[in-house]
Amino acid sequence: MFNGYKIYKTASLILGGALTSVLALAAIAQTSSITFRNTITGEVLDLNDALPEGRNTEGVQKFMQTGVNPYNEDKSCLKQGEQIFLSACSGCHGHLGEGKIGPGLNDDYWTYPENTTDVGIFSTIFGGAKASMGPQYQNLQLDEILKVMAWVRHLYKDGVDQAPWFTEEQKKNYKPYKQGEVFADDAPGACKTQAK
Ligand code: HEC
Repeated sequence: MFNGYKIYKTASLILGGALTSVLALAAIAQTSSITFRNTITGEVLDLNDALPEGRNTEGVQKFMQTGVNPYNEDKSCLKQGEQIFLSACSGCHGHLGEGKIGPGLNDDYWTYPENTTDVGIFSTIFGGAKASMGPQYQNLQLDEILKVMAWVRHLYKDGVDQAPWFTEEQKKNYKPYKQGEVFADDAPGACKTQAK
């Protein structure tokens, strides 16, 4: 049966959705004063390739402005970061980031020294590196990339003097991940109010 109103409604929902994503794209392009480059080729990464969800959280906006991952050592984000790591990374990098077919991520040796900065490691995850280190931009949302980055930083087991990604305050308080460490579901912090 013909239902003009329903068709109108559907059409406006679709158009509305499209408009929202166009605005979201514009927002990312505008707020990022940072140029992200492919770790291998140096080509500029296009953040508009990111998945539509999770690209405009407060955390993502902050990161795009400062180049510093606001989720580092934020207990409300670490648990989700751990889950993402276990499903998307540990098969190749090991459960503790100790290395497997991919290199270790929990020590102070980096194949690509730019991975000691948040902008650098974001670029490696988003745009990939060599061999089986494929780009993750169609696999993880921008906000999820920040969470998994925070988890990788929390797995770090070597000296804080070799960890330029931490603030001075974080260096003072840093305790590397201990197996069995649990994070309260309601730990206060930036990821607490987000779904899941
Ligand atoms: C299918 C296997 C595979 C998966 C899945 C994978 N990686 Fe990798 N990763 C690799 C390999 C292999 C390398 C080495 C690439 C190179 O040297 O260019 C690598 C390199 C890296 C590096 C650079 C390390 C350095 O020493 O500079 C980082 C950082 C990294 N991966 C993070 C991640 C994260 C985070 C995830 C999950 C979101 C992930 N990888 C998922 C295989 C994988």
